[in-house]
Amino acid sequence: MTEADERAHPSGDPWWAGAVVYQIYPRSFADASGDGIGDLAGIEAHLDHLSGADGALGVDAIWLSPIYPSPLDDFGYDISNYTDVAPEYGTLADLDRLIEACHARGLRLLLDLVPCHTSVEHPWFVKSRSSRDNPKRDWYIWADAREDGSAPSNWTAAFGGPSWEWDASSGQFYLHSFYPEQPDLNWRNPAVAEALADAMGFWFRRGVDGFRVDAIFAAIKDDRFRDNPPERRPSVIPGLGGGGQDPLWSLNRPEVHDVIRHLRRVTDEYPGRVLVGEAYLPVEELSIYLGRGSGDEFHLAFNFELLLSPWKHLDLTLAIERSEALHPPGSWPTYAISNHDKPRPATRWGPDRARTAAFLLLMLRGVAVLYAGDEIGMVDADADLLPDPPFDRAGRDACRTPMQWDASPAAGFSTGEPWLPIVDAGTRNVEVQRNDPTSLLALYRALIAARQGSAALKLGEQRSIFEVAADVLAWVRSAGDERVLALVNVGEAAQRCDLRRANAASGQVLVATSGRSGCIPLEGLTLAPHEALALLL
Ligand code: GLC
Repeated sequence: MTEADERAHPSGDPWWAGAVVYQIYPRSFADASGDGIGDLAGIEAHLDHLSGADGALGVDAIWLSPIYPSPLDDFGYDISNYTDVAPEYGTLADLDRLIEACHARGLRLLLDLVPCHTSVEHPWFVKSRSSRDNPKRDWYIWADAREDGSAPSNWTAAFGGPSWEWDASSGQFYLHSFYPEQPDLNWRNPAVAEALADAMGFWFRRGVDGFRVDAIFAAIKDDRFRDNPPERRPSVIPGLGGGGQDPLWSLNRPEVHDVIRHLRRVTDEYPGRVLVGEAYLPVEELSIYLGRGSGDEFHLAFNFELLLSPWKHLDLTLAIERSEALHPPGSWPTYAISNHDKPRPATRWGPDRARTAAFLLLMLRGVAVLYAGDEIGMVDADADLLPDPPFDRAGRDACRTPMQWDASPAAGFSTGEPWLPIVDAGTRNVEVQRNDPTSLLALYRALIAARQGSAALKLGEQRSIFEVAADVLAWVRSAGDERVLALVNVGEAAQRCDLRRANAASGQVLVATSGRSGCIPLEGLTLAPHEALALLL
């Protein structure tokens, strides 16, 4: 990829505005070495699926979940070295090659930055726990027991149990917001901020285009370890606190914005790079993570309200309207309908909704993050198919099974024994869907092509039309004179639409989840169950 000129749209918007990002869980995408674990060479060998080839999805960027050395207590989200590649995924040279191969196709590559915690095996923590006066002690959060010997606060960890782990040899507790094998870094220590800045610079200089920033809302906690109060009311984001408490003092502290501003300053030294924050928060809180438009916090932050919404007209309407109303002006909502932590849409919302879910993800205003495998409608593995006990104690392996490339026993994923079972490659795989114009894969391709080919869909504004029909979501995307009407029947019955407010007599089908094409009169337009249409007005 040539430098700066490639990094912006002709409109002047940055490259990531309206982008489609493809999330790869490296263990499960493609295994070139034959050890049953996906790797970087496997990803490189499958770039034709993503961009720059006939039949490619046409995405703008890939985001790789962690590829760093790790003892795998949380499958790579427990890092033991921020500036290397885990041997099972390859080498730094493999990563350099992958970056080059991506850029040659105009594809950007994002890595995962995990600033909240390291692995217990990271040399920083090994030193930190070795004695109370080790210079690295203060790189993590250590505290004495209370007088009665109990933990310093009542905080609970995201994956259950207390957030404090007793370290008998040094006689203090350390803090972990996630698993006990993931001790939290102390972001109040400037040396930690500097060390993470160095790690970011290491990857930026290799050509990485940005980071998805893991669990940022847990990066900094109350310095007095005040007890969290009991949960007061259900949040829009269910289970945010866990353990029946409101995470008032342990998550989403105001000081986290200093951490984000620091990450942003480091990023801004490298033109054209992007930071995408991960925080399970209601969108009004996220807007602060986007710096309320001030340009000194995240460029993008996941809005999980759509992902977490029940498949009901009212809930989906609220998720969309809250997003539009509460994102700061000039910012881009970042939507995902699944990821490596959540059940897949074809499982959570049901296979009948996979097509309309794809339509929502790609036709709404914003950045769309597509989790590998959703484009062929992969479903979660049954729990009894998974290794017992699951490697993943938080029970998320079901949505991390290997990508299904073809119908062979190992799904074209590996020549060896895949690390997790293959779910149903015989019926769902890339090879069969690639040449079937009615497949989900073909629909994803068409949706992305429509978006890439339309200023209104990629970069345009969005305005909802209400009361079109009981179960129909409707909105208009517009840029200049171009107007695209999007209609989604989220219900199980046919819906006759009242489209007088669209101010048009007819529309040309740009993309449809059904077989419709051509010019369609809007008066009396009836959508079949689970039908969605984008019409150029
Ligand atoms: C994020 C990751 C998840 C991980 C957690 C702790 O939510 O997506 O997989 O377990 O952070 O790093």
